[in-house]
Amino acid sequence: MKIPIWLDCDPGHDDALAITLSCFHPALQLLGISASYGNAPATKTAYNARSLVTALGMFEQIPVYAGAQKPLYRTPEYAPDIHGESGLDGTELLPEPKCELQQGSYVEAMEKAILEHANEITIVATGPLTSLATLLIQKPHLKSKIKYISIMGGGIEVGNRNDNCSAEFNVWIDPEAANFILQDPELKDKSILLGLDITHKAIATQQVVDQVRGVVGKSKLRQLFYELFQFFAHSYEGAQDFKDGPPLHDPLTLIPLLEFYGWAPKSQVQFQYKRLDLRVVDDATHSDFGKTCVIKEYDPNDKRGTMVGFNANMDFFWKQILDCLAEAEKSSTIE
Ligand code: BDR
Ligand code: CA
Repeated sequence: MKIPIWLDCDPGHDDALAITLSCFHPALQLLGISASYGNAPATKTAYNARSLVTALGMFEQIPVYAGAQKPLYRTPEYAPDIHGESGLDGTELLPEPKCELQQGSYVEAMEKAILEHANEITIVATGPLTSLATLLIQKPHLKSKIKYISIMGGGIEVGNRNDNCSAEFNVWIDPEAANFILQDPELKDKSILLGLDITHKAIATQQVVDQVRGVVGKSKLRQLFYELFQFFAHSYEGAQDFKDGPPLHDPLTLIPLLEFYGWAPKSQVQFQYKRLDLRVVDDATHSDFGKTCVIKEYDPNDKRGTMVGFNANMDFFWKQILDCLAEAEKSSTIE
């Protein structure tokens, strides 16, 4: 049986690869996408999501909804320093979307997906946690029906935002939403956090990027992703001094699922995590505003505490990315 997932994202260069993996990995069944504000305003991320599913040839299969439009309580912040003004700068190859946004609310659509796949579904979040928090604030009965929540966000030893560089972007832009998930007694223990501690180990080196482009064929889809990687590398070098390539954060959210659902053995995925209770600093006057703090560490065999990733088999990770790109090439509409 495939792993049913819902993807809430804010594309975003690395989100684009999370979408690709979600659409084409043989273990995954992508039920729908919600596009949240985050890397860019929500209208732009929604456009980018629709354009990406069009480029991937999945515009008829995967419904795209508008997700959260702004943080629970705060004024939105975006990331043009990393993703450009559009949220997905760096290529002219993104097609005009062939699908509209779905009518109706992402809240109802996610509820339907969860109820139809009760106790099996994972919600994957690769942007701020606002959409998911909104859903579960409005519909708390759904909490018990979700198997896992896999989040790109936070960081224990590493940050990329605030004055102290101690916060991570996705939790920094909506710390109240992050705390709603990470402090909820029913949700925290089924949450998997792929923070900067692990995602900074997923570096898209020039060798990886060359493999993305491919030697033979050089399809337009590969060229599109190649250009996205190049832009991402350039902004990460400029903004955060990454010299060997950019960290490809978001698609890592899918990797532990392959192990946890039994699709790939532990010895192959090698996902290493600690069980931690966490809290995000939500006092805006604090110099560590947005930092993910450890409140308690459990024994690794305990079932309590969020599963916070620190390492995984990165060769395995890149293989999943490259295999899915090869699959995507077959259905791409931008030949
Ligand atoms: C996260 O922030 C965004 O810029 C990326 O898409 C990723 O989800 C990394 O801090
Ligand atoms: Ca993202």
